[in-house]
Amino acid sequence: MPELSPASPRPRHIAIIMDGNGRWAAKHGLERSAGHQAGADAVIRTLECCNQYAIPYLTLYAFSTENWKRSPKEVAFLMNLLVDFLDQQAAKLAEYQIRLRVIGDLERLPRPARLCLQQQITSTAANAKGNLTLALSYGSRHEITRAAQIVARLAKAGALDPEALDEDAFAGYLQTAGLPDPDLIIRTGGEQRLSNFLLWQASYAEIWFTETFWPDFAEPQFRQALDDFAHRQRRFGGI
Ligand code: FPP
Repeated sequence: MPELSPASPRPRHIAIIMDGNGRWAAKHGLERSAGHQAGADAVIRTLECCNQYAIPYLTLYAFSTENWKRSPKEVAFLMNLLVDFLDQQAAKLAEYQIRLRVIGDLERLPRPARLCLQQQITSTAANAKGNLTLALSYGSRHEITRAAQIVARLAKAGALDPEALDEDAFAGYLQTAGLPDPDLIIRTGGEQRLSNFLLWQASYAEIWFTETFWPDFAEPQFRQALDDFAHRQRRFGGI
């Protein structure tokens, strides 16, 4: 494995599609919920890796708009797991100085999850070392459509000149406004697609796939993704 020297290029923003919880559980003869529980432990390990390797931005695809189609039991489990996770990790967010943000259609989340998120977003707002963004009830096409609606409404009201709208200005209407674009997108679990995740923001991201199921994701895989990133040439369309 190539060495990761301090001078190696590192991603500033890593975004992760955490896939394979259900298959991990099946492999171990467990319920899907046990896979999600183990997935929450992998989230904590990943936060620790970001702290250790000085990666300031981490975005996690924790629940997609499509995930609402899962059984009510699984959805309820995931929402409760989220609340437990936030309660249990509040001290870590403070210790690592991590600011929490959320992107997605939050109106659809159950009230206890919304309240807990709101409370942690507020209490971590001044943290400036790390940035954890949870994509919850998130779908990129929905996010882009919503941004287009805002722009159209402003233009109709005469508050925005359509000719003056450039890419940077449009990005300001996305929920990720203020966040840098991801440099590296990781997808675990063996599938090789983006699944409606950060489609606009991923335009120039390096993408790294691994067969590892999300609950098994740990420092060796994180490190391997960083090593691979360090050896890719990012040309952003140039030569
Ligand atoms: C995909 O695995 C994973 C999810 C839909 C949920 C992600 C949730 C977690 C990692 C749990 C904790 C997260 C937080 C932020 C506390 P899958 O169920 O689709 O797996 P499969 O493809 O093997 O069935």
